[in-house]
Amino acid sequence: MTETVVRSETIAWYQRMVDAALPDLLDELLADTPDAAAEPIRYAVLAPGKRIRPLLLMAAFKATGGRPENAAGVACSVELVHAYSLVHDDLPCMDDDVLRRGRPTLHVQFGVPAAVLAGAAMMPLAVRAVGLAGRDMGLPEERVANLVARLTAAAGGRGMVGGQLLDLRAEGQDVAPDELERIHEGKTAMLIAAAAAMGAIAAGASQEDVDRLERFGMRLGLAFQAIDDILDLRGTTDELGKESGRDALLRKATYPGVHGLRDAERLSRELVRAAEAELEGLPDAQDLRGIADWILSRRH
Ligand code: IPE
Ligand code: IPE
Ligand code: MG
Ligand code: MG
Ligand code: MG
Repeated sequence: MTETVVRSETIAWYQRMVDAALPDLLDELLADTPDAAAEPIRYAVLAPGKRIRPLLLMAAFKATGGRPENAAGVACSVELVHAYSLVHDDLPCMDDDVLRRGRPTLHVQFGVPAAVLAGAAMMPLAVRAVGLAGRDMGLPEERVANLVARLTAAAGGRGMVGGQLLDLRAEGQDVAPDELERIHEGKTAMLIAAAAAMGAIAAGASQEDVDRLERFGMRLGLAFQAIDDILDLRGTTDELGKESGRDALLRKATYPGVHGLRDAERLSRELVRAAEAELEGLPDAQDLRGIADWILSRRH
């Protein structure tokens, strides 16, 4: 078997684990929630995503000595935050998108108020998911608190929410390369870095390894958003499962817009290589490398 086949089978194995864990987790989290509130949340979370953030968490858990399947629950908490960020990102007051993961966006399907409220409900669900996973894994309380602190910091004003505001403010503006980096780090890289760091924290890794994985995730996360920008320009709506060409219409600050397409491609390759260089010294990081290579070569 070629290296690429082995890699895609490994990734599919991780994705199956996440896709199996998410419905059970939602059943538990939404047990007392009225259908009207639970249905849009299920719609957003269970739609077919790549599950990159939970994959990274589980692979980081493995790289620091854990068995990845044991981290599926805590990994799902990051997917809940991500799915919420997509619901709000698509709203008419933000990117105003009608297609997500090959389906109508949440506000198209259920209306804007339901989409706003479902998004808001998903953040506390994510925190509860960490608590449940910590209980199931028998993690010490201090480790659970550390996981919650990482996740909520990455989602907040210094992370995703702050980055999203900068992204909106930058529409139609001339943006310098360092400002673009700040936007992309906030809106995307911080949550990806948190996922990698949380895998190490859940495994009880040394502070040095947690920091190493966080640096890996920041570089990879920046590359991830740069590639998302490139795909918006070069991919088709069918391939992406979301409408292509939107960034140019909205005059977004993007890697190809600021650096040109060729340099954006070169920079994303360099960022992935820099991310992978952080993994040297970890004994079992081949799955993390496989995910990083996949991010670079992905078509959607
Ligand atoms: C899309 O993320 C939003 C960005 C941060 C670029 P993904 O490309 O991970 O979306 P899904 O989860 O696979 O749908
Ligand atoms: C979204 O970036 C980042 C977050 C959801 C936090 P984009 O706006 O580029 O994501 P897509 O292209 O709509 O998936
Ligand atoms: Mg956006
Ligand atoms: Mg968008
Ligand atoms: Mg995009």
